[in-house]
Amino acid sequence: MTSTAFAPAKINLALHVTGQREDGYHLLDSLVMFADVGDTVTVRAASEMSLCVTGPRAEGVPTDARNLCWRAAETFGCPVAITLDKHLPAMAGIGGGSSDAAATLRAMAELHHRPFPRQALDRLGADVPVCTVAHAARMSGIGDVVQPLVLPPQHAVLVNPGVDVPTPQVFKALTQKRNPEMTALPEAGGADAFLDWLHKQRNDLQPPAIALQPVIATVLDTLRATPGSRLARMSGSGATCFALYDDRAAAETAARALRGTWPQWWITACTLH
Ligand code: C5P
Repeated sequence: MTSTAFAPAKINLALHVTGQREDGYHLLDSLVMFADVGDTVTVRAASEMSLCVTGPRAEGVPTDARNLCWRAAETFGCPVAITLDKHLPAMAGIGGGSSDAAATLRAMAELHHRPFPRQALDRLGADVPVCTVAHAARMSGIGDVVQPLVLPPQHAVLVNPGVDVPTPQVFKALTQKRNPEMTALPEAGGADAFLDWLHKQRNDLQPPAIALQPVIATVLDTLRATPGSRLARMSGSGATCFALYDDRAAAETAARALRGTWPQWWITACTLH
């Protein structure tokens, strides 16, 4: 008896920090979409908990209760053997660990024929609720308020330059914590109206992340210079950045060219839903 779930990369197309609660957590207003690249989680009923990490990004990923997959599975109260096939860079602003946790909850729900316990979401981190939706959504509160959206698919290139930017440090380096919310999404006008709107939104964590790791600015400049790039921005607290293109072919061409010039960066073309 096994069950498998895909853990797509989470991309914050916009991420506004709108305030800070007394407990230190920040209030967010974010537009999130999910890529067709990601990790895969498989769970199998077993007599005790175990976690095996495979795949090109397995190195350094914890195989015990430090891993969010393990903690997500434990909320069901039934031991499982978990296999995590890791393709996404960790701690990279694209929700790797959170999406793995959400996929584990989906796989466990299927294996045990029951929905995941809602209180599971309280303990697994701010990005997990939106990752359980796994398609376009507006995320607010501290990440706990999720409103699913219908948006046109977006074609993107993701680039991670391989530097660590710990999320708490980025939030700490943020000078202005009360910023305006996102404006209302356009209801008409198609892809161009959406992009015009997106240009007027921000990632408030981008300037502090660049201050901590200036290479992020180089990644953004490099993405902006690729043919057909419509918008380039950082996702989450970084360091992964994305650029949007009119079609998948343009994204694939840009990704190929970038890989030639920057062989040490993690670069992938993808489609966001
Ligand atoms: O919830 P998660 O473990 O993903 O968050 C990592 C860190 O990011 C938190 O410890 C906190 O410093 C910061 N954070 C925040 N406000 C949020 C989400 C995360 O300050 N809404």
